[in-house]
Amino acid sequence: MAIATINKQAEQPDIEQRIEDLLGQMTLAEKIGQMNQVESGGEHAIDHLRHSIQAGHVGSVLNQADVDIVNELQRIAVHESRLGIPLLVGRDVIHGFKTVMPIPLGQAASWNPDLVRECASVAAREAAKSGVNWTFAPMIDITRDPRWGRIAESLGEDAYLASELGVAMVRGFQGDDLGCAGSIVACAKHFAGYGAAESGRDYATTNIPENELRNVHLRPFEAAVDAGANTLMTSFSDLDGVPATANDFLLRQVLREEWGFDGFVVSDWDSVRQLAIHGLTEDDAASALAAASAGCDMEMAGGAYLHHLPRLVEEGHIDEALIDKSVANILRVKFRLGSFEHPYTDPSHLPGFGDEQALGMARQAALQSVVLLKNDHAALPLSAERLTSIAVIGPMADAPYEQLGTWIFDGDMQLSVTPLQALQDMLGGKVDVRYVPAMDTTRSRQSDAFDEAAAIAGDSDVAVMFLGEESILSGEAHSRADINLPGDQAELVRRVRAAGKPVIAVIMAGRPLTLSNIVDQVDAILFAWHPGSMGGPAIADLLFGIESPSGKLPVTFPRMVGQIPIYYNQKNTGKPPSPETIIHIDDIDPKASQTSHGLTAFHLDAGYTPLFAFGHGLSYARFEYQNLRTNASEIRPGDTLQVSAELTNTGEVPAEEVAQLYVRDLVGNVTRPVKELKGFKRLRLDPGQTIVVEFSLHTDELAFYDRNMQLVTEPGEFHAWIGGSSETGLRTEFRIVDSD
Ligand code: BGC
Repeated sequence: MAIATINKQAEQPDIEQRIEDLLGQMTLAEKIGQMNQVESGGEHAIDHLRHSIQAGHVGSVLNQADVDIVNELQRIAVHESRLGIPLLVGRDVIHGFKTVMPIPLGQAASWNPDLVRECASVAAREAAKSGVNWTFAPMIDITRDPRWGRIAESLGEDAYLASELGVAMVRGFQGDDLGCAGSIVACAKHFAGYGAAESGRDYATTNIPENELRNVHLRPFEAAVDAGANTLMTSFSDLDGVPATANDFLLRQVLREEWGFDGFVVSDWDSVRQLAIHGLTEDDAASALAAASAGCDMEMAGGAYLHHLPRLVEEGHIDEALIDKSVANILRVKFRLGSFEHPYTDPSHLPGFGDEQALGMARQAALQSVVLLKNDHAALPLSAERLTSIAVIGPMADAPYEQLGTWIFDGDMQLSVTPLQALQDMLGGKVDVRYVPAMDTTRSRQSDAFDEAAAIAGDSDVAVMFLGEESILSGEAHSRADINLPGDQAELVRRVRAAGKPVIAVIMAGRPLTLSNIVDQVDAILFAWHPGSMGGPAIADLLFGIESPSGKLPVTFPRMVGQIPIYYNQKNTGKPPSPETIIHIDDIDPKASQTSHGLTAFHLDAGYTPLFAFGHGLSYARFEYQNLRTNASEIRPGDTLQVSAELTNTGEVPAEEVAQLYVRDLVGNVTRPVKELKGFKRLRLDPGQTIVVEFSLHTDELAFYDRNMQLVTEPGEFHAWIGGSSETGLRTEFRIVDSD
């Protein structure tokens, strides 16, 4: 796709010199104005913001995506403010803009950084066409809690996967050159620890020991910073007693001193003033002082900086040199973006919304994100030749808005193709498609239409049920304590099952759901997340075997909610469970003593395994791994180990497999996880084809933070696995030996 490119960075003299020159001309009020981000006021934005922009009181606006309004706001900033500094125009472009891609958690299930980068790039150019030059994405919070509604926006539970995909998103949004038309500034969020909210309740407290913070939660952020993410957003949460927005350990020590970040940090919405609500400060002035001193450069909404920082500087509570640093960080990003040279948007320089390429990407992304969780007796794929009728049942079959998922401010529902439409298009007159929604919403408790659904299923060759949760049930402030299918969906499944025909469940949801109560009632499950604009055609292709499913879970699926947090890279404990050491509550002998069972780490009613493991995902092909090898049994610090295995498609159809490399460091200065993902590759194989999958593993990739918070690679024994999920795979061993 030819995007009109204007290489703006090449025209720029030294950015640091320009920052210094500009800072030298700025009044204190103008400096603090740059640190102020304001809500745009929608269609009244121009009247609403004219005076404050003219006065130099606004550095950025958010939530304005009307290109004419944006251009006029930029004109006021450039021509009617004293120093003519253009605005950053921020928007939540999280998983697409007009064209909606699968939710980030769905994109993560593709395990395909190239695809994720392309999705972000399409989103960036559609957003840029509307004048938006800054997105609040990627969201790279690690979470192990599917109750948390914002898991939908995340890239899953694993720091390595989230790092690879987060970096891909940063590159997709920012392009090769931030100065090119169609590139927008990325914002890695929410720094840091937000995904560990207690009980998955949004905004709740997070307590993360520093060792775990560094080994898990901070890793994707460091990767995003290394990849050039120009901005970071603070988390709403209280982290170990210090809310992230005023957390100088995070914002100064880690981000600036250790990582050398030179972009800027924005608060989350009103999170500066919320410092007082947290109980960290007494009032807005104290909040502004705490956040600005800690290194939060820009305040999103709230106005505490604008109203209080001038006096705080004048009275000597905060050094103006600190303010200068924050302003320099903000101006640096504006210069990099090229907005001083090209403040306006000419939409004709960019392709149209929802064009063929965008919809093609949305379809490809949906296709690769769907995970085949189970497929008994090869119930899937269906065959259009062998079927005469198909019953399409359920509240998510024809829900063009709901399939888009959370964060779709600008999403164009008209672009959605639902599974029902796609199946009707695909099957034409050849197969009779009978549709019964059976429930008004997924939350419905009305079972009046269940008889009709069961009757139609009984009269058809197969029942395909579209279940799940609407987009409103996940996302910000939409956490759930019960993550079963909501409403009476499980009962609907039982009724349809009783009709005696094969039952296929296609589940669309913003999070892993606990599916224990339906898993045995259905023959196959395709987990489609919220698949975006082109979810329908992608699902139809998968149901009918035009393509084979290839998504793999980026997050563990618990059997029941009480197992949470359950994740693959847990620690071993001193009493690890095994099939021999556990018992189910129903099997306890009435005469058993308290100590006769249960001396290992498991639940009496849930065991210790998940329903579906991280990395799991079936295919219509069969993949076999053999001949796992390393090129050495011992390596030294600084060496690179080659780990390889042969992968064969022993099935009958071409398909893609995501080969995964896991490692265990057996002994550490701090205890180490039982497995850690260290590499993955998505590969397409024809039937009968064998490929050697090879991973390079440098000893630096085995480093971890020890109890002194030093990043170390320790000599010792390691296990390595290559396989198709975190619970399968061939295993080998190797050692790192001291260099001397
Ligand atoms: C969310 C952020 C988002 C911001 C702006 C907040 O409530 O936590 O993720 O970017 O709003 O819309």
